[in-house]
Amino acid sequence: MVTVSTAKELSAALKAATGGDTIVLQAGDYTGLTLTGLHFDIPVTITSADPGQLAVLDTLILRDMQGLIFKDLAVKVDSGETGVAVSGSDNVVFDHLDVYGTAASPTGGGILVRTSDGVSVLNTQFHDLGVGLSHLDSSHLDFSNNTFKDIRADGIHGGGSSNVLIANNTFTDFYRQSGDHPDAIQFWTTNTKTSAHDIAITGNLVVRGDGTQMQGIFVTDQSNGKLPYVNLTITGNTVIGSMYHGIAVTYANGSDISGGVPGKPLFFTGTVLDTDGNPIVGAHVDTWHSDGEGFYDVQQADKLNNKLAMRALLTTDENGRFWYRSITPRYYPVPTDGPCGEIMRAAARSPMRPAHIHFWFKAEGYQELVTQLFRPDDPYLDSDAVFGAKRGLITDPVDHEPGDTAPDGTVLDEPFVTVDWTFTLTKSSE
Ligand SMILES: [Fe+2]
Repeated sequence: MVTVSTAKELSAALKAATGGDTIVLQAGDYTGLTLTGLHFDIPVTITSADPGQLAVLDTLILRDMQGLIFKDLAVKVDSGETGVAVSGSDNVVFDHLDVYGTAASPTGGGILVRTSDGVSVLNTQFHDLGVGLSHLDSSHLDFSNNTFKDIRADGIHGGGSSNVLIANNTFTDFYRQSGDHPDAIQFWTTNTKTSAHDIAITGNLVVRGDGTQMQGIFVTDQSNGKLPYVNLTITGNTVIGSMYHGIAVTYANGSDISGGVPGKPLFFTGTVLDTDGNPIVGAHVDTWHSDGEGFYDVQQADKLNNKLAMRALLTTDENGRFWYRSITPRYYPVPTDGPCGEIMRAAARSPMRPAHIHFWFKAEGYQELVTQLFRPDDPYLDSDAVFGAKRGLITDPVDHEPGDTAPDGTVLDEPFVTVDWTFTLTKSSE
């Protein structure tokens, strides 16, 4: 066991250490520490001399390091900085840290793990930060039993990492500012090259608390399904008081949401306005529809390997717009095997529903709107089994020939349909 009291002494002690050693830090600040190229088969432990008065790491950079345990330490994050940045390293454990920002409106991140293997962040508090914990292109990550509080943007976010466990963390009191889009846990594929696999998000607790609205678990593939998540498990999480859906596995505007189900391409563009005709920015759009044979994804779960298809959660842009590509739905019969079927038969009603697309809008300060849109040439338009079809919900779809240009700029070599529609939301108080 070696005791040190400055960053320089800590650096020297690590260079002299052998596997299994413990380096003890006297209370005080350890500023601007960069550690490179030290490999320990048995980890070296770095910890505070007095767990009641934690030594403070004021930015720590680890590059190409192996076999370290950081335990009972504080990490100070000044605005715009990253508290701890780990890259190209393996077998690094952070346990019982206090990671905190210093600015009133922090933009910094707590811990960032990149291109590393076997990094654990455990029993750690993250607070007063822009983002708590970030990861990129890493593997064997264990982020468990941490607390995220007073965070502006995201608790844990990142992409391209596989074999990731995010378990039993607590997220509360997030306080977004304009432009922030806070999620407790977010995964993306932006700037990643391979499908992330074996991700388990389990037993986490997301509570809005005294903070502003936040989203729970948000998993997106911005590559339009080119980098699908493989073996993603989301179980036993609790989301209370969140914005939008607590848990969303989704795409971004402009994506192909067909989930690979074949059919005639459909390009939907929508605008969400208030009753004065002003765009509603950031409205949440939940949309879903059947395939060209009248089946929803959930009715063909085996065929689709339990993957979601022909549904999306989207957000309107600064002009109140949202858009996606999918396939055209078809009419379908409602189930006729139960009492519903008996009533339909007794009333001599057709069980058929005309083809439609479902929409469910939510926006802060507005009444929710749940609606469906139809096309004018559907054979069952006048005999909708559930009386959903109304004149004001019949769209004006445009049929396009092969060689026409779609709204996203692509030229298609097959026929396709475009639909544009404007939705109006009523203020909660109206
Ligand atoms: Fe439907």
